[in-house]
Amino acid sequence: MSSGSENSAYRQLVAELNEHGYRYYVLDQPSLPDAEYDRLFAQLLDYERAHPAEVASDSPSQRVGAAPLQSFDQVEHRTPMLSLDNAFSDEDLQAFVGRIEERLKSQAPLRFACEPKLDGVAVSILYQRGELLRAATRGDGSRGEDITQNVKTIKNVPLRLRGSDLPELLEVRGEIYMARSGFEAFNRRARAAAEKPFVNPRNAAAGSLRQLDSRITAARPLLLCCYSVGEISDAQRYSSHSELLAVIAGWGLPINPLSQTVDGVQACNDYYQQLAAQRDRLDYDIDGIVYKVDSFEQQRRLGTVARAPRWAIARKFPAQEQLTELLDVEYQVGRTGAVTPVARLQPVFVGGVTVSNATLHNRDEMARLDLRRGDTVIVRRAGDVIPQVVAVVAEKRRDGAEPFLFPERCPVCQSVIERDSEQAVSRCSGGLFCAAQVKQAIKHFASRKALDIDGLGDKLVEQLVDNGVIFSVADLFELSPAQLLGLERMGPKSADNLVAAIAASRTTTLAKFIYALGIREVGEATAAALASAFGSLQSLIDAPLEALLEVDDVGPVVAARVREFFANPDNLAIVGALCQAGVNWPAPAVADPTTQPLLGQTWVVTGTLAQMGRSEAKERLQALGAKVAGSVSAKTSCLVAGPGAGSKLSKAQQAGVAIIDEAQLLAKLSQWERR
Ligand code: IVH
Repeated sequence: MSSGSENSAYRQLVAELNEHGYRYYVLDQPSLPDAEYDRLFAQLLDYERAHPAEVASDSPSQRVGAAPLQSFDQVEHRTPMLSLDNAFSDEDLQAFVGRIEERLKSQAPLRFACEPKLDGVAVSILYQRGELLRAATRGDGSRGEDITQNVKTIKNVPLRLRGSDLPELLEVRGEIYMARSGFEAFNRRARAAAEKPFVNPRNAAAGSLRQLDSRITAARPLLLCCYSVGEISDAQRYSSHSELLAVIAGWGLPINPLSQTVDGVQACNDYYQQLAAQRDRLDYDIDGIVYKVDSFEQQRRLGTVARAPRWAIARKFPAQEQLTELLDVEYQVGRTGAVTPVARLQPVFVGGVTVSNATLHNRDEMARLDLRRGDTVIVRRAGDVIPQVVAVVAEKRRDGAEPFLFPERCPVCQSVIERDSEQAVSRCSGGLFCAAQVKQAIKHFASRKALDIDGLGDKLVEQLVDNGVIFSVADLFELSPAQLLGLERMGPKSADNLVAAIAASRTTTLAKFIYALGIREVGEATAAALASAFGSLQSLIDAPLEALLEVDDVGPVVAARVREFFANPDNLAIVGALCQAGVNWPAPAVADPTTQPLLGQTWVVTGTLAQMGRSEAKERLQALGAKVAGSVSAKTSCLVAGPGAGSKLSKAQQAGVAIIDEAQLLAKLSQWERR
């Protein structure tokens, strides 16, 4: 037994953790650093271990899952869970609204609640006097399965409702889904552990909820979004859907902040357009918009036909998944020799574009998909993510269809393909002997963030290498206009211009030069960090592993790659030839906090910056001493977010990172740069 004061401190701790959980998961407004939350949580667990009899039913520790079930119990829905009719066009929607107006004999424009249609799994959750009593799947609409143990593990599902004026009974309905960011993180982990990834976030949510062992569900990043109420005591107190949703939100239940009420069909269509434009940037999949007549009185008058209400409809978006035929698999060789299988597909319109190629990532992913020529495959393109082949439709496979075998030798130079033991990557061992790798290395060297050679496009690089004009990046500086003349679309003027552009690119910065070398794992930010840490190329070449490891953000893998690169005599010869050819950079300024007020800070830039562009923003921030990273973490000092910012923005919001827009950045830059 504990003393009363100990127990009340424990209750206080439960309340405090629940409050933070609510702010974090429901309001999306974190109020505590993660580490502090973890500390309090550990304290909670200590107390509960010592006083198991006192564990509160709404303690956040209760979300870890319970002992596995043998099977799910059946549950009868007291009010059936209906489905929705679909509309596929403005005309369909107009016809739906027309039918309703006629039935209601309404002259005035009708008020509709407009909501994103989340693509997950429908759930019913019953609260009795504010306590979560039971959760069930939709099943056939009349009977579903009891998934209470699983639903209790979901972080934004309140175990107890907030507030005082709670109804005796409340049955809420909503969608359980997996956010895209959670889905991608989960699949990354699954692939790394050689486990089967999920096909899409919907399947991931469905598969996670179907677990008999709720401890497995607890480890899946599921979320709830409530969209209606099945049953509520004193229902007559509420007169509209939107009013009731606002009330349940006040009780701590998560609802969709993008929901809106609008009047008339035109405004419904406007809402559709507005959401369609945002769809790719949302952190969850939506497959359409649900329109519901807002007034409960009007809903009652309209009633229900078959299994769908007359007062609601789902307006579908174009699909993000389609079936198509797999024509062939080809293999691309990248700058570092990585051999990437690429699916050639019968062109198909999906996610708003025509897709005819999709990456298959690597040998393991190809093996997992188990592809055969002529297979029918599911292609998915969600958001601005590159198209993926997510699965084969096994039932449609033709007898005797030919499997694809990952090649043993490089398709470009015939060198042996080796498997990178720690990564899933297969690499051509040809190095600079492989024309594909040389071409990619030159393209990278000339690219905008590297030496930025104007006019040296991909096609030209391919011709130069294929025709044996150049063999390495160093040869670029030896090029004469005469050597260029015979090449496709190369007249005397453009030949002169290119040679001049190459000459002009000689003067660069140490950071860009290091980046341009194309050392594996050394991106722009790491190159900048190495440049400012070592100050000169020679110091970097000579740097022992320990010195490299001291640099911010340089871990053992990056350090090893840098050592490996400079230990290779071919690479040193190229670096030497580049310096010989006159590539140069000003000595970097010594770190000075008065001119570099951002020293020690890490910034991230995302979205569209209309006035200066992201590259310029990065360079100016780096000049002020900031490190500019590619992803948001708890260590990020500030996120610059332009329009179109996606998951980085939501992550920064969640992590409580400072966020500014382009105008604010410009104002700050002009202030700092004046010093
Ligand atoms: S309302 C009678 N609202 O779509 C109303 N459903 O085909 C029935 N869904 O099973 C549902 N988002 O799982 C409604 N904002 C939303 C929704 C939504 C997703 C799902 C739900 C339902 C299916 C209907």
